Amino acid sequence: MNREPDQSAIPTSDPFATFDAWFAEAQAAEPNDPNAMALATATPAGAPSVRMVLLKGHGPDGFVFYTNAHSRKGGEIRTNLQAALLFHWKSLRRQIRIEGPLTEVTPAEADAYFHSRPRVSQLASAASDQSRALADRADYYARLAEVEARFPEGSVIERPPHWTGFRLAPTAIEFWLDRPGRMHDRRRFERDGPETGGVWSSTLLYP
Ligand SMILES: Cc1cc2nc3c(=O)[nH]c(=O)nc-3n(C[C@H](O)[C@H](O)[C@H](O)COP(=O)(O)O)c2cc1C
Repeated sequence: MNREPDQSAIPTSDPFATFDAWFAEAQAAEPNDPNAMALATATPAGAPSVRMVLLKGHGPDGFVFYTNAHSRKGGEIRTNLQAALLFHWKSLRRQIRIEGPLTEVTPAEADAYFHSRPRVSQLASAASDQSRALADRADYYARLAEVEARFPEGSVIERPPHWTGFRLAPTAIEFWLDRPGRMHDRRRFERDGPETGGVWSSTLLYP
């Protein structure tokens, strides 16, 4: 086993550039949903819950996903804006953790993304009472039929106001890279508070 000291392979500069580079490699390598990420939310009492969502936009201002604000996650977000994201790209053996508060996207952003989706997805999400108990799948089909009747082929499907997006503004981003012999490389970036200019700095961590 090589015990020679080596350099961290995770760049110490701009974490967003490293995110972009790793995400581009994942888009080329992963067979399905390279933009899938686990979203952790918690109740105000600190009971966590986690589920997968799709990353639909990202940049230094944040990481965006879309959902139904009446869902379980929506209820948790309403009362506790702190959240965390996790990407694990299995074929690349890489992980990225992101933490920070959420804000809702603007209605214009939510409209633009909603209407970019296939018509069937717009109808299905408009008909879904996400996370509520469903006695029978027939009830969901009945709601879908109602929505289809309201918005006939060729008409614009109105975005339900509770179908929206959230942007996580990162205060910490941590990269994990598989290395031989469990000598993994781990680097955590943290952003200073706005009073000190919101500068990012990073530290190596034991794996
Ligand atoms: C790969 C994958 C991607 C998903 N993407 C989304 C998404 O972008 N938005 C969403 O609301 N649910 C998405 N889901 C479904 C969620 O994981 C979850 O079942 C749903 O949002 C309800 O979660 P909640 O009850 O915690 O609110 C996805 C599921 C999988 C497996």
